[in-house]
Amino acid sequence: MSTDTRATVRRSGVARVAAAAAGLVAIGALLVGVRAGASAFRRVAPVAAAPQGQLPEPPPIAPTSAAPSPEASEAARRATLGKTLFVDANLSDPPGTSCAACHDPARAFAGNHGSSIGVALGSRPGHFAKRNTPSLLYLRFVRKFRLHWEEDAPLVDAYGGFFWDGRTDSIVDLTRQPLLNPQEMNAGDGRRVASVIAASAYAPEFRTAFPGALDDPDATLKAVGEAVSAYLLGDEMAPFSSRYDDFVRGRGQLTATEAAGLKLFKDSAKGGCSGCHKINDRSSDPKASPFTDYGFDAVGAPRNRALPATRDAAYFDLGLCERQGGDYQKNTAEFCGRFRTPSLRNVAVRQAFMHNGVFSKLRDVVAFYASRSTNPERWYAHGPVFDDLPAKYRDNVNVDKAPYNRHRGEAPALDDGEIDAIVAFLGALTDAPYR
Ligand code: HEC
Ligand code: HEC
Repeated sequence: MSTDTRATVRRSGVARVAAAAAGLVAIGALLVGVRAGASAFRRVAPVAAAPQGQLPEPPPIAPTSAAPSPEASEAARRATLGKTLFVDANLSDPPGTSCAACHDPARAFAGNHGSSIGVALGSRPGHFAKRNTPSLLYLRFVRKFRLHWEEDAPLVDAYGGFFWDGRTDSIVDLTRQPLLNPQEMNAGDGRRVASVIAASAYAPEFRTAFPGALDDPDATLKAVGEAVSAYLLGDEMAPFSSRYDDFVRGRGQLTATEAAGLKLFKDSAKGGCSGCHKINDRSSDPKASPFTDYGFDAVGAPRNRALPATRDAAYFDLGLCERQGGDYQKNTAEFCGRFRTPSLRNVAVRQAFMHNGVFSKLRDVVAFYASRSTNPERWYAHGPVFDDLPAKYRDNVNVDKAPYNRHRGEAPALDDGEIDAIVAFLGALTDAPYR
């Protein structure tokens, strides 16, 4: 399908969704600035990013005066145990690689375990995870994976779920993936994990929290998942302590450059960033600014030729369309090349960007957005435009909206100073511990 045809199809999709949404009460009040551009078919996204379905409710806010309820102290006990498991380097084989090796607590729970190629190094030399490690902060706001934003919205689109391709909704289940993945922690199986825990200093706490779990390999893995999930979805992992958060609370100011960056970030004719990296700077509640709508998009990140896997010319990471799941039609061709829009909170602390870690400088990411369509040779020097996708899926890349709705040779939507301003603004999204 040509770009124009697709744009039209998307436009009519928008119209239908908009019509379906028209009857919904007060949706307008919740909208964070309507997305501009033909491809903006996620514009009915309500701002309240409430956890849904299988994703556990956020734990109750700890009562300040009254004694904690039994449920709250049980959750707190599990979270503490989860934190201990998260940093236990004996779980991996060979020992030395904990969850924290890649999700570094000093780097907003991201990092690639010392690897500089863009994807994470596993527990064994020369073994790499498939993708760049995301931050684990703010996961409790990730919505359950689904194919419609509203229950009865006619338009099929994908939102939510954990991982770059949204392939799971449960951290309890997810935890066994990095743990057992031979390219990551290579922990063997539930039996080996149980024996490591049984020999650890925290074995008594584990047995108290999960009686009998160490006797059954599957129950062990489930218990580890439950503890880690309690930790990762707890208050500690959603600090909202950035200068941007202080700014929306009315307790701090942005610098003039950061404020200019925020304006460009929102301006649908300039950065257009908030169309996907959703914010509401008019709300004094930082939760209204998750810096993602949890949607999936194909932005055409260049192929990362440093990854061993890409030596095979036939290797492609197709993202969303390779996702498996009973609720999901595999090989939905238009989903190939799409990845879940990451939150930009703490993005300035990252050392690798995009699902394939192709960029190592934040400024390059913003410059890429600005000049991807006007100066493609700068980004795709070694192959065709959108070279990290097979030719048949290159049309999936979003070319309909600012900043990349321009044409080769035209002026980029953002000049150098404007790129710098956006980068400065992104720096204001860093939480207090990482500044
Ligand atoms: C070798 C590096 C590495 C280790 C060790 C590791 N992870 Fe990850 N983690 C990753 C990568 C890479 C991804 C993205 C994978 C993907 O999207 O396919 C990821 C994704 C995640 C996500 C999803 C985040 C999101 O935004 O959706 C969670 C949760 C997670 N890891 C938890 C853990 C836990 C718990 C452990 C320890 C049991 C762990 N990880 C160990 C590299 C690692
Ligand atoms: C159409 C939706 C969309 C728009 C508009 C958009 N982004 Fe993104 N952004 C994404 C998606 C999807 C990814 C992940 C792409 C990938 O990994 O292949 C991403 C990734 C990023 C990353 C890398 C984050 C990380 O953790 O690796 C940064 C930084 C970023 N975007 C900043 C911006 C800025 C700045 C703008 C505006 C100039 C912008 N984005 C506009 C969807 C969007």
